[in-house]
Amino acid sequence: MDQIVRLAGAEKVPPCTVVIFGASGDLAMRKLIPALYSLDSCGERMLADETMIVGCARRAIPVDQFRQHARSAVERLANAPLQEGCWDRFASRLDYLSGIDHPEGFARLKARLEQIELSGGLPPNRIFYLAIPPDAILDWVQRLHDSGLIGLPEGRGFSRVVVEKPIGVDLRSARAINAGLHRYLDESQIFRIDHYLGKETVRNFMVLRFGNSIFEQIWNSHHIDHVQITVSEEEGVGARAGYYDHAGALRDMVQNHMFQLLSLIAMEPPVSLAAEDVRQAKLNVLRAIKPLTPEEVHHQVIRAQYAAGHLDGKVVPDYSHEPGVAPDSATETYVALKLFVNNWRWSGVPFYLRTGKALPRRASSVAIHFKHLPAILFAEHHRLPANVLTLRIQPDEGFSLSVTAKQPGLDLSIRPVNMDLHYEREFQARSPEAYEMLLYEVMIGDQTLFVDAETVERSWLFIQSILDVWEREGRQGLLSYAAGSWGPAAAHQMLRQHQCGWYEP
Ligand code: BG6
Repeated sequence: MDQIVRLAGAEKVPPCTVVIFGASGDLAMRKLIPALYSLDSCGERMLADETMIVGCARRAIPVDQFRQHARSAVERLANAPLQEGCWDRFASRLDYLSGIDHPEGFARLKARLEQIELSGGLPPNRIFYLAIPPDAILDWVQRLHDSGLIGLPEGRGFSRVVVEKPIGVDLRSARAINAGLHRYLDESQIFRIDHYLGKETVRNFMVLRFGNSIFEQIWNSHHIDHVQITVSEEEGVGARAGYYDHAGALRDMVQNHMFQLLSLIAMEPPVSLAAEDVRQAKLNVLRAIKPLTPEEVHHQVIRAQYAAGHLDGKVVPDYSHEPGVAPDSATETYVALKLFVNNWRWSGVPFYLRTGKALPRRASSVAIHFKHLPAILFAEHHRLPANVLTLRIQPDEGFSLSVTAKQPGLDLSIRPVNMDLHYEREFQARSPEAYEMLLYEVMIGDQTLFVDAETVERSWLFIQSILDVWEREGRQGLLSYAAGSWGPAAAHQMLRQHQCGWYEP
């Protein structure tokens, strides 16, 4: 019989007002509004009746127009289907405040919030979502503070601030942003988003590791040969060159998403599921990763930029010919690297990370390669393939374990087969979208799925050791790969040196 163990029920969130700065922007319309609608939709009904959503932006548009934009975003992008009854209820929660950048903008916001709270009998529970360019974050937080909208938490309500990545562009700027946030906010009020932590499959990492007796026993250097983490994207830079050409794959993906995946895979069992215990266990992984020496950067890190190629039957131009990209850009659109987690559990086990744009498929996965068996019994003439546990984050969410099995027949032929779980087929239930999950967690005030200040700085410390070398060397050492291929030959060579190849999604 199926046994569902419900550890944390999806509780209704306390009534609150969600203020979205940058409400007419891409993030708000593509992710936040659709996610809030899905949370509020007829099936889930997770939002408290009194909850309100106030969009703030510069543009002066009537609230009805804001609602209309929101409706078309929900129609196109929400995980839950648009139903008229649910939409009407959701639309009545939406309010809009223009001219937030004016000197008196925050005073008007304060007055609006007080009015909403008074008329709805709401406690001053406020969530400020900063869906704004990173260089505006500190200014906005200061204005929130100066207008008396955030103070240290007191008994009467809460004020929380949600910050998007990137937190900084290097170690120095990340430290400055954290220090700036801490001037006005307690760490318990800050929710730094890394949307990978909201993905259903990533949330399953801990359950898989610590909820099954078979894995944790062998989750160490005695049994694991190496680990591969891949986040590959089919899209090129698209319309984001303005941001991406200053960031590159290392800053955009490795410093945050990939290091979060790595720390969940490599962490020790936390003492409890409380946010501080889980975050501490993950942080300890990053503490055990040493910054690379320049020589290690040369041997262990490969960077490349895509050149013209074909993807899905379409021609992709050289990255440097993409609109908005500097013609002599040294920005990497691909990174592959090897690192070690220097603690007892992982001593000597390489972790290989790779990510890139304009690769053949969109696919994110973690592949745990177990050690080979001794060449005795079935493997006198050649090595049997090692067992591999592959966690597929997206698409085709699920996981598989490759094992060796006997092929039916009178002879003794053996080959690897996959034990495979597909989320959709197995659970036949809607998985919440990452932003739904994360917004829900902000509202209930649980910081487990958010990134704390030290974690941000620890991962920058490692990344900085690479950036320093690249900055000195400019385009020297920057390789190229054809769009639509699996990256430069050197990245494959790196794995061949380990006598294996990259897992091909
Ligand atoms: C973002 C990066 O954080 O993550 C993008 O800035 C990237 O460049 C995106 O495309 C990938 O997210 P997902 O959920 O599509 O894998």
